Amino acid sequence: MLHPRPLIHLAADLDALSLGVAEAVTAAMTDAVRTRGRCSLVLSGGNTPRGLYARLGSTFRDRIPWAETHVFWADERFVAATHPDNNARMAREVLLDHVPCPAHQIHAIPTSLESTDAAAADYERTLRQFLSSGSSAFDVVILGMGEEGHTASLFPQSPALAETTRWVVGVDVPASPRQRVTLTMPLLTQAAHRFVLVSGATKAEALTHVLGESPDVMQYPAAALRTSRGAVSWWIDRNAAAHLPADVMS
Ligand code: 6PG
Repeated sequence: MLHPRPLIHLAADLDALSLGVAEAVTAAMTDAVRTRGRCSLVLSGGNTPRGLYARLGSTFRDRIPWAETHVFWADERFVAATHPDNNARMAREVLLDHVPCPAHQIHAIPTSLESTDAAAADYERTLRQFLSSGSSAFDVVILGMGEEGHTASLFPQSPALAETTRWVVGVDVPASPRQRVTLTMPLLTQAAHRFVLVSGATKAEALTHVLGESPDVMQYPAAALRTSRGAVSWWIDRNAAAHLPADVMS
């Protein structure tokens, strides 16, 4: 069931948005460690979260319990770990290389296996092992949204959107690079806190569908994040919110 009233945080621009999410993510991570003894943090790629990651790795670094944090990814482009398009590489450069998170607690999606399916199966084993040894869902998941409404690497009309059992799948997407590995909705929507970051005028049109009444989740996959399980908050800057009706914002 989709939550009828999305929780929206409106920010003036990407900088203000990054600061607001950094505060909220820090609080959620601290709370997870206080109540459960560890925190799982799931990262995404793209440009939008860079400012957030930079803050988590600098001004917020000493407020975050990195020693008890386990890092995962919502999706990965199937390119070498050293490739500029690799999501884990970006997160390492901007965030993880700057914080005291133990290396064995950083779980990148493997891209050196023979296929995206093999990588997905391997990562699913990693996730099942981790989630069976403590809280059974992720604590904090950071997601973005593409201009046509995709999230993670779940694109419009993808067969992966119909997945009900597998947590990780290989996908061929209409974007570069095409070969990717992505977590699926049955797993993403179990997370205790989902933070969806949306910035820029090019996202405004899709966002009206994603946050509208009865969205078509096959056409606008990010709308599927609006389940009533766990907390999902939408962090939107003014340009991305430009076409949202007033009743969605209130
Ligand atoms: C990826 C992402 C993807 C991203 C959106 C938004 O690996 O590309 O995880 O889902 O969040 O495409 O990307 P931007 O933030 O660059 O607009």
